[in-house]
Amino acid sequence: MKDELTAHGFVVMDREAVPEIAGRWGSPQAIVSRERDDSWSLSGTYGLEAFPWHTDGAISSRPPRWIVLRALSIPQSTYTELLDPDPPLLTGLRRTVLRAVDRTGRARHLPAAVSEEGRWRVRWDPRTCDPRIGLSLDEVEAQDATTIIEWREGRIVVLDNARLLHRRPTVPAGRVLERTYVWSE
Ligand SMILES: [Fe+2]
Repeated sequence: MKDELTAHGFVVMDREAVPEIAGRWGSPQAIVSRERDDSWSLSGTYGLEAFPWHTDGAISSRPPRWIVLRALSIPQSTYTELLDPDPPLLTGLRRTVLRAVDRTGRARHLPAAVSEEGRWRVRWDPRTCDPRIGLSLDEVEAQDATTIIEWREGRIVVLDNARLLHRRPTVPAGRVLERTYVWSE
């Protein structure tokens, strides 16, 4: 599995066992698709509508490296899209400066991609990070998915949140994914 994660940045598993990934594991959270509200989250902002391309924790000085998702309830066919940026897009992201505003209103300027120790760390979230120089939100949103993962109950997906962007289409209410973050170098 480790080889697959290194090669592709994600892995899909249809078995019970949660993969062993080195790092600090957060606690699992049930993410229930629901109508928009005033909470500070993607669901609060977009409700059941499509989410744009993003990375999780884009506002954080240390975003989680891995996202482990497990489908708990899939009332109707739905999928998650992944975007593995190609070299021209990475170059564009590296030149892009984001104005990132956290929930307290504090703003920082951060690059949308940095290259560290032979790999890229991408951050992108139209909700909290407004590009001021470089690529626009529309230019990134227009990118096609490089992978589409259909959900089925029990399916586990591990994503490299430093390498890949992800998004989802409009979903029915009641889709439940369990999400666990793993922080590691
Ligand atoms: Fe996400």
